[in-house]
Amino acid sequence: MPAVSITPTDAALGATVEGVDMRTPPDDATIEVIETALETYGVLIFPNQIVTPAQQVTFSAALGPLELTANIDARLDGQPEIFVVGNTGAKTVTFAPKAGSDDLEWHTDHIHRSEPSRASLLYAKEIPEEGGDTLFACMYSAYDGLSLEDKEAYGRLEAIHSVAGLRAYLRDQAEEDEYDPGRQEAMPESVTWPLVRRHPRTGRPALYFGAKITIGIRGRSREDGLRFVRELTAHATQPAFVYRHVWRKHDAVLWDNRRALHAATPFDMERHRRLMHRTTLRETEPVA
Ligand code: SIN
Repeated sequence: MPAVSITPTDAALGATVEGVDMRTPPDDATIEVIETALETYGVLIFPNQIVTPAQQVTFSAALGPLELTANIDARLDGQPEIFVVGNTGAKTVTFAPKAGSDDLEWHTDHIHRSEPSRASLLYAKEIPEEGGDTLFACMYSAYDGLSLEDKEAYGRLEAIHSVAGLRAYLRDQAEEDEYDPGRQEAMPESVTWPLVRRHPRTGRPALYFGAKITIGIRGRSREDGLRFVRELTAHATQPAFVYRHVWRKHDAVLWDNRRALHAATPFDMERHRRLMHRTTLRETEPVA
């Protein structure tokens, strides 16, 4: 194994990893280095990876079982494990708001599924000249930053998640009549998980929710639940807890969905192209 160097960011999470070549599947020692670094830093940046879709899939699959996006139209032809996120194809797929003043769509991948996602790997094929960054917020820090009272109270809460919440956001973001979810695999109407989740590898408590995909808190009215989620989002995504990734072409970023929320920032979709390929690792540990 070539020497791997890991340089932490100065944010609450994130580290740059050099010495890993994603064109070849990682051996056991490299997998251990990556998993330990992911456990320690939550977000790993691998600069300058020039990989084909097949290589990205093979590399990702060496880290664990993959899952497909429910958005059938966003699966790459011939390589369905790749989720195509961008504005370069026939249909735009983006989680970024249209305008800088709009709410960001903070989320953790596939929280609305009965088997959520453990980690995701996003690979930058084309990036805009401006904007289109990805923000990552550390949910350990968000939990640690709660008062003792809130820690106790939130530890008893269950949050309800549904793809309907995400769709409503995307519909609001679209121009009139422009919103078309395309062909979608069926999803459960909603799933419920504890709001505070212990990370299966580190044992640390983390907040587990999404700004739009979390549609309520069990036992509370809809309005109360949504207000709670809005306030929790403001707390959990405050700048002290956030790493901003400004993409360079051929960056690959791997993040731990059990620890990090992420959100794309807006870019001018009329003028610029942004094309990302995501592979998504299925959760293999119980959530609750
Ligand atoms: C995603 O939410 O998986 C994509 C994030 C991004 O486009 O920056």
